[in-house]
Amino acid sequence: MDGIWLFFILLPEFGGVILQVQLEPKNATVYRGREARFNCSLGQPDWVIMTWSLKGSLVLTISKEFGAITNNDRFTAENHTSDQSYMWEFFIKSAQRNDSGEVICDVQNIGRNVATLSVQESGTVAIPGGNVTAMEKQQVTFYCLALEWFPEPLVTWTMDGIAVDNHNISTVAFEGWFNSTSTLTILANYSVTIECQATVLTLPVPKTSSVFLTVAAEPDEKDQTVLIAVTVSVVAVVLLVLIIIVLSVFYCKRRRVTASTAFRQRTRQIQL
Ligand SMILES: *[C@@H]1O[C@H](CO)[C@@H](O)[C@H](O)[C@H]1NC(C)=O
Ligand SMILES: *[C@@H]1O[C@H](CO)[C@@H](O)[C@H](O)[C@H]1NC(C)=O
Ligand SMILES: *[C@@H]1O[C@H](CO)[C@@H](O)[C@H](O)[C@H]1NC(C)=O
Ligand SMILES: *[C@@H]1O[C@H](CO)[C@@H](O)[C@H](O)[C@H]1NC(C)=O
Ligand SMILES: *[C@@H]1O[C@H](CO)[C@@H](O)[C@H](O)[C@H]1NC(C)=O
Ligand SMILES: *[C@@H]1O[C@H](CO)[C@@H](O)[C@H](O)[C@H]1NC(C)=O
Ligand SMILES: *[C@@H]1O[C@H](CO)[C@@H](O)[C@H](O)[C@H]1NC(C)=O
Ligand SMILES: *[C@@H]1O[C@H](CO)[C@@H](O)[C@H](O)[C@H]1NC(C)=O
Repeated sequence: MDGIWLFFILLPEFGGVILQVQLEPKNATVYRGREARFNCSLGQPDWVIMTWSLKGSLVLTISKEFGAITNNDRFTAENHTSDQSYMWEFFIKSAQRNDSGEVICDVQNIGRNVATLSVQESGTVAIPGGNVTAMEKQQVTFYCLALEWFPEPLVTWTMDGIAVDNHNISTVAFEGWFNSTSTLTILANYSVTIECQATVLTLPVPKTSSVFLTVAAEPDEKDQTVLIAVTVSVVAVVLLVLIIIVLSVFYCKRRRVTASTAFRQRTRQIQL
């Protein structure tokens, strides 16, 4: 019996939630410090009070007769009433991360509607390794740290301004903040500027960090060949000179020995 009564009492209220109070947009996403806006409208003229709540706290009251009543400058409203509907636009100035949550427009004795506010925030982005010098064809790995973002940032890389997509990303979240680490591994072919960009949807310009990759040319194979050739020639010449010296010393000695033997023999013949 009680249940049936409750059903009939709730019926118009339930209908009001669906039809009578419209709240737009359903999801609002803004960047930190920007203004968030919602429109609440209804068709029937017999309303008196409209209230706005943010994360469960009543922040603004609108009287059909007297307009917006507030004691906080961050929350204001504007009258957009037309022939078709009663409409008030609710503004949250300088939205903060901790404003993220439910926004409710409640029209006393008529109905209410719920929307969601999500405030995005950027953190820092850095390539901690700094400038890198590598040999040609050497594999080089860069790390990019995007710390304290909300929501998870999109991290991308460019080389001399051209997007590269061979990177890995890992993200950790804690108390609603996201830290992302992106790893880029490339083969060093030429000197280039490496840039890491991090962004969230509402950030007008991505945050960036860049470093220089300097590629030092490997000792050229042609140069090595020349070097080897020069070394070999020098060694050969030195060897040749040595051989000549050794041979000539040996030869001279022999000749002197032969000459003195002949002299002695001749002397002996004369004596005889
Ligand atoms: C609003 O956001 C929630 C959660 O992010 C999502 O489930 C829902 O579909 C969104 N609604 C609209 C109308 O975009
Ligand atoms: C609310 O409605 C007014 C009037 O139609 C419009 O100018 C304004 O942009 C709307 N705001 C939002 C957040 O949709
Ligand atoms: C809101 O605007 C309507 C239409 O212009 C006007 O009739 C009404 O008096 C306004 N309400 C307040 C509280 O200013
Ligand atoms: C929300 O954040 C702002 C700025 O970060 C801070 O001033 C304010 O006290 C916070 N409010 C609450 C309820 O934590
Ligand atoms: C990297 O190299 C560039 C250009 O040579 C220089 O301007 C910059 O200061 C260097 N950065 C670091 C961290 O050494
Ligand atoms: C990404 O990470 C996986 C596992 O750690 C690794 O096997 C793969 O080579 C990485 N890819 C790039 C492009 O760094
Ligand atoms: C993100 O990085 C900041 C700064 O290094 C650190 O204080 C914080 O604990 C990190 N958060 C997570 C979830 O790792
Ligand atoms: C370097 O060259 C090799 C092929 O020669 C190519 O696979 C690689 O992607 C190049 N690296 C970069 C960073 O352009």
